[in-house]
Amino acid sequence: MTIALAIPTTRSALIVAGKGIAAPIQMKLCVNNLSHRVSYSTKPNNNCVPNDCYWAKIKARMHKFLSLDQLIQFYDRMGAKQDTQAFYEDPATDCLLTHVDFRNAHQVFELGCGTGRFAQKLLNNCLPQDCTYRGVDVSAVMVQLAQKRLGRWPQRARVDLVTKVGLSDFNECCDHFVANYVLDLMSPDQIRSTLNDAHRMLSPQGELCLVSLTKGQKLLSKSVTAAWRLIHHLNPSLVGGCRPIVIEEFVKASHWKITYNKTVSAYGVPSEILIATRVGSH
Ligand SMILES: C[S@@+](CC[C@H](N)C(=O)[O-])C[C@H]1O[C@@H](n2cnc3c(N)ncnc32)[C@H](O)[C@@H]1O
Repeated sequence: MTIALAIPTTRSALIVAGKGIAAPIQMKLCVNNLSHRVSYSTKPNNNCVPNDCYWAKIKARMHKFLSLDQLIQFYDRMGAKQDTQAFYEDPATDCLLTHVDFRNAHQVFELGCGTGRFAQKLLNNCLPQDCTYRGVDVSAVMVQLAQKRLGRWPQRARVDLVTKVGLSDFNECCDHFVANYVLDLMSPDQIRSTLNDAHRMLSPQGELCLVSLTKGQKLLSKSVTAAWRLIHHLNPSLVGGCRPIVIEEFVKASHWKITYNKTVSAYGVPSEILIATRVGSH
């Protein structure tokens, strides 16, 4: 026999509980007295769902990601304030600059270029004169800021707005594909798909240059990681949608040869730097 108990909940109660659900839903607690297992469903129907399914749903809800619209809203609002993150981002992106050889670069592509700070450093200090830079971002405000910042290089630097997650429309070729603090905003599927796009866009032997928020290795950074994950679980928009990830876990050996992989912590915030050479056929 199955006993079903309907508990109406409110949006605010669920948000307080960290689920961030946008509309009132009914949760049903179903006690299956044959197996003595308890399961409940977020579906407003009378069928109990298996426990596995329930946990998958709860996990999916806890690891939710900002939608494209939410990301755009957040980063449009953030605008130039994004540069205040330099205190923990710069040590990691500077490490990337030190370990990637841009001297022979011809075409650099950057996903999620933000205000164009990294591109400015590249064009100022690292790229040869005949090298072009193309950045894209989903936030129109970021695109404007980056275009203004890179205005000194009208012939070499171009920044465009993209209107969707994913680079399936991009057929151009590049020899360096950069994404700093962008993959950590994406779902695992989006990360895998972005890395496939990078593989398609990069020339043979092209370099993948990634920096992302990651998990801590020492006491302070481990505590920061735990706090960050908790905040992200409660409300991802409080941390701009990003959460600690391990990029290495997404980098397939059939597509990439990792040449550098290190974690750098600044003020307790750990970042993973991963550089890989493209291998395999298109
Ligand atoms: C955390 S900021 C990092 C900005 C810059 N890369 C930096 O290191 O300062 C993330 C940026 O990626 C952009 N972004 C997020 N998802 C994106 C996507 N799928 N395609 C392009 N840009 C994206 C956001 O608008 C934002 O400007």
